[in-house]
Amino acid sequence: MAEAKNLGVVGSGQMGSGIAQLGAMHGLHVWLLDTDPTALYRANKSISSSLQRFVSKGQISQAACTEALRRLEYTSNIDELRSADFIVEAIVESEDVKKKLFIELDKITKSSAILASNTSSISITRLASATSRPCQVIGMHFMNPPPIMKLVEIVRGADTSDETFHATKALAERFHKTIICSQDYSGFIVNRILMPMINEAFFTLYTGVATKEDIDTAMKLGTNHPIGPLELADFIGLDVCLSIMKVLHAGLGDSKYAPCPLLVRYVDAGRVGRKCGIGVYDYRKGSEPMKASPRL
Ligand code: NAI
Repeated sequence: MAEAKNLGVVGSGQMGSGIAQLGAMHGLHVWLLDTDPTALYRANKSISSSLQRFVSKGQISQAACTEALRRLEYTSNIDELRSADFIVEAIVESEDVKKKLFIELDKITKSSAILASNTSSISITRLASATSRPCQVIGMHFMNPPPIMKLVEIVRGADTSDETFHATKALAERFHKTIICSQDYSGFIVNRILMPMINEAFFTLYTGVATKEDIDTAMKLGTNHPIGPLELADFIGLDVCLSIMKVLHAGLGDSKYAPCPLLVRYVDAGRVGRKCGIGVYDYRKGSEPMKASPRL
């Protein structure tokens, strides 16, 4: 496949906005699609301020920032992705919702387009099987936040072709990322290891072993993690963490992956982390650190 020129990104939340920004910074014309116009508005603001931070740190010029912003288009109309060479899906972590989107993308995009998913845990083979082009479907799992984090985990489905793999690798390298490859098993590499640790941190809080602050400090200073597991869960989104645990539990069939009831309860209460202002910790302006019982 010739080098991709036009990138479509579906889902303009934390991940999709960052992936769109990366594409625009590296010379691609980008359509960022979301069904929610408010999400598009937020993405526009966060991309502009992130690019401006790159300028103030001297990492890109003001001209490069202006050019990147000019390459970005925001839309709620899926037909605008018709001319995309490469599409990265970054919508909600639900197999049913993703499959519906892949069916639609398969219908409207050109036959040569590659359809990649940023899924954290869902089977690429099953997403691919919803399309008429399983050899052009692949997992391209960016880390959060995509413009900063160095890793891209590539996941090949059962039918992903070598050509699709090489085009995906080339795109990730164009973004200056380091590539790792995983087989298509629930959670791949990163979340197979990370999410059970985060889930266990919730169990540690739930069973009253320690406070949230001590759990996070334990892992930062005791094991040299740059961020504690509960802070990281808030950053990822507790809804995303819960969805991944459910996929691990169902896909690997072992009770050790059962989501902690406290994680479930926070999500039920709408406390999904930084993106809504409150998760395990409270990020709302002027609020005192949360004193709520760990059992909510
Ligand atoms: P998010 O909740 O911040 O954003 C999801 C966006 O998708 C929302 O703006 C929503 O309006 C939009 N959306 C939902 N259904 C749609 C549809 N059918 N068509 C178009 N837009 C739609 O979620 P986030 O955190 O960006 O995660 C997105 C994906 O990336 C998930 O699959 C997640 O597992 C994965 N991921 C998340 C990471 C994280 O740290 N949050 C890290 C790596 C991957």
